[in-house]
Amino acid sequence: MLTTLAIGNYRSINHLVLPLGQLNLVTGANGSGKSNLYKALRLLAETAQGGVIEALAREGGLDSTWWAGPEMSARMKRGEVPIQGQHPSDVKRLRLGFATEDFGFAISLGLPIPLPYPTAFMLDPEIKSEAIWGAGAYRPASLLVERKNAVVRAREGNSWTVLDQHADSCESFFNIVGRPRQAPEIGELRAFINSWRFYDHFRIDRDAPCRQPQLGTRSPVLHHDGRNLASALQTIIEIGEVEDLVAALEDAFPGSRLEIDAPPGGLFSVRLYQHGLLRPLGDAELSYGTLRYLLLMAALLTPRPPSLMVLNEPETSLQPTCSPPWRG
Ligand SMILES: Nc1ncnc2c1ncn2[C@@H]1O[C@H](COP(=O)(O)OP(=O)(O)OP(=O)(O)O)[C@@H](O)[C@H]1O
Ligand SMILES: [Mg+2]
Repeated sequence: MLTTLAIGNYRSINHLVLPLGQLNLVTGANGSGKSNLYKALRLLAETAQGGVIEALAREGGLDSTWWAGPEMSARMKRGEVPIQGQHPSDVKRLRLGFATEDFGFAISLGLPIPLPYPTAFMLDPEIKSEAIWGAGAYRPASLLVERKNAVVRAREGNSWTVLDQHADSCESFFNIVGRPRQAPEIGELRAFINSWRFYDHFRIDRDAPCRQPQLGTRSPVLHHDGRNLASALQTIIEIGEVEDLVAALEDAFPGSRLEIDAPPGGLFSVRLYQHGLLRPLGDAELSYGTLRYLLLMAALLTPRPPSLMVLNEPETSLQPTCSPPWRG
């Protein structure tokens, strides 16, 4: 389980160290930075999948992700508000990190030193440093694997072994060190991060894939856009916590019953029997809120829970009285 998340110099988040519990709910006004927190977690996940540089480029480049606040405002100078932002002499870095009960991981990214030859990749960010340490807060003594620019080294007993001296600045050590025997922590942490699950944008529009009959295969994990909803619900019915599924449905839609139409070798679809209706409604007929609720149930009652699940704006199109399925 993640116990702490740390973000520095990322969009509206100048400096944040956030202790995490088993369930964390982030609320706040529009534009207060909730989605930025979500995006920072996604960037961390991209690190282990080898896509952090590309993900930053998609966001408009590292330059646009720096905290755009003042280095020091007049009110900060007068001591009326705490000093925020970086000291002008500080080198700009985007810093991301987290800790679990067993490990900590941190990465810092910055702009490259200008090269003496022309290149089209002048603005590609570089990974400046990465570190994995043992349980607890970061201390030099608890470092297990460390990268400084192109050099990656791992602790072995009382000494350090260099794993790579020419690490590419655009690749995390999760991707460049293919020698898990020398640094098992890298493989362990990569598997941990790879199991994180993000749900940002369920498709519930009229043409959404989950409104079309879908080829059904056993699906312990709901696809990030919800396309395999019928298979995921059927999987929960067969091997998951079906009582929780029934209770969550009853909670939001009293008297209703869910059925998955799953003809052998055919296409799967969802049917919802609702109180007072003479025939079940198919997935194409369900309201936006009903469909989103079913998607949330399928995501949260997964028979294969990940080490971290992050939902951005899960309450959209749900009425306040329609309690989310994680209640209690
Ligand atoms: N580089 C940056 N530096 C400082 N602030 C930034 C930067 N980029 C974006 N922001 C701020 O982040 C805010 C957007 O944050 P975010 O999208 O996380 O809001 P939110 O809490 O998810 O809001 P909503 O409820 O509307 O979705 C904007 O108000 C913008 O001012
Ligand atoms: Mg948002």
